[in-house]
Amino acid sequence: MNDKPNKLITDDGLRLDGRRADEIRPMKIEIGVLSRADGSCYLEWGRNKILVGVFGPREAHPRRLQRADAAVIRYRYNMASFSVEDRARPGPSRRSIEISKVSREAFEPVIMAELYPKTAIDIFVEILQADAGTRTAAINASSIALADAGIPMKGLVTSCAFGKVDGQIVLDLNKEEDNYGEADFPVAMTQDGEITLLQMDGHLTPEEIKKGFELVKKGCKEILEIQQTVLRKKFETPVEEPEAEPEAKIVDTESEAAETEPSLEYAPEAAAVEETIEEAEELEAEPSEEVTETVPEAEELEEIVKEAEVEVVDGEAIEEAIEAETEEEAIEAETEEEAIEAETEEEAIEAETEEEAIEAETEEEAIEAETEEEAIEAETEEEAIEAEDESKGPWKVVKDPSESGSRGENDE
Ligand code: CDP
Repeated sequence: MNDKPNKLITDDGLRLDGRRADEIRPMKIEIGVLSRADGSCYLEWGRNKILVGVFGPREAHPRRLQRADAAVIRYRYNMASFSVEDRARPGPSRRSIEISKVSREAFEPVIMAELYPKTAIDIFVEILQADAGTRTAAINASSIALADAGIPMKGLVTSCAFGKVDGQIVLDLNKEEDNYGEADFPVAMTQDGEITLLQMDGHLTPEEIKKGFELVKKGCKEILEIQQTVLRKKFETPVEEPEAEPEAKIVDTESEAAETEPSLEYAPEAAAVEETIEEAEELEAEPSEEVTETVPEAEELEEIVKEAEVEVVDGEAIEEAIEAETEEEAIEAETEEEAIEAETEEEAIEAETEEEAIEAETEEEAIEAETEEEAIEAETEEEAIEAEDESKGPWKVVKDPSESGSRGENDE
């Protein structure tokens, strides 16, 4: 620990960090810094550095903690072990449990918990760097984070402390003033001025408290302005319209604009739109010129198509001629076949005639030579049988397939 300075307030009325008695430390707020939280805030107040994440309203677990008529508000103040000069012991301490409780109670009057029964609204506070007044700083940051999360509230909560240093009432104590001062008095209030947190560490007279409250009101008013500025900056940022939309709207309303008096304010935009339309028309017109330019090519194409058709016609004629030739050949073939058949028939007729003649001769011979020997007749009969077989055709009839060798040949 540093040794106590001789004076915490100089003769000029300035404090060790250069502030006057009624001044707060410089405050810097960043909103929506945690992507996984519903609402978040990072706050620097003097040398204090605090991060707050808000989650909910979400289903409360364990269920036995649920309230049928309202949301449960949970506030966890945690000091990082590296946040102070001496290492802070990790985990909840009597101090952190106490701060968590009083800070939760500071928000209960403003959070509209009745809108979300059976749910929980969790506020997690991480003190990254502590330099006195961390609970007040955490309340200011939590107020922003709750608003960022969209939790309905009757108003923002602001918090500031006053104290007694070197016998003087001063606003917003720093680390040295807190350590070596006579009193520390943290206060939180709604933006309507209702007190939601009030603690006192030290000894103060009623007059000193009254004076201190005047300072705290001033301090909280300044802090409220900072909070509102940050929130407005986030939620009142005009949404940038897509670039194409305004042009489209103007084009849509072009006919209407033509009916009514054109506004001078929109004249440059209208001119820009007209230029765009003209360019578009030019672009549309260009392809038609290209078409006219390509007319000769089209003619060439037509010629090619015609030639192809001619070729096709020729091809068809060739095919027809081939067909005709084929038909002729077929006719010739048929004629030849018929001729062959006719010859065969003629031969067959001739053969029959010959057979008949032979038979007749045989019969005549048989009649004439009745006395001839049976052997001669038998020979004559055999010849007649042979002649009959020949007349049936040039092929050999095989009655028994085994006689011709292979069984397959004869099956056909
Ligand atoms: O921070 P706040 O004034 O709300 O609470 P406090 O209990 O009055 O503590 C005052 C300061 O003491 C803290 O801001 C820390 O800088 C310091 N402190 C510390 O150094 N180690 C602790 N375990 C607790 C507090």
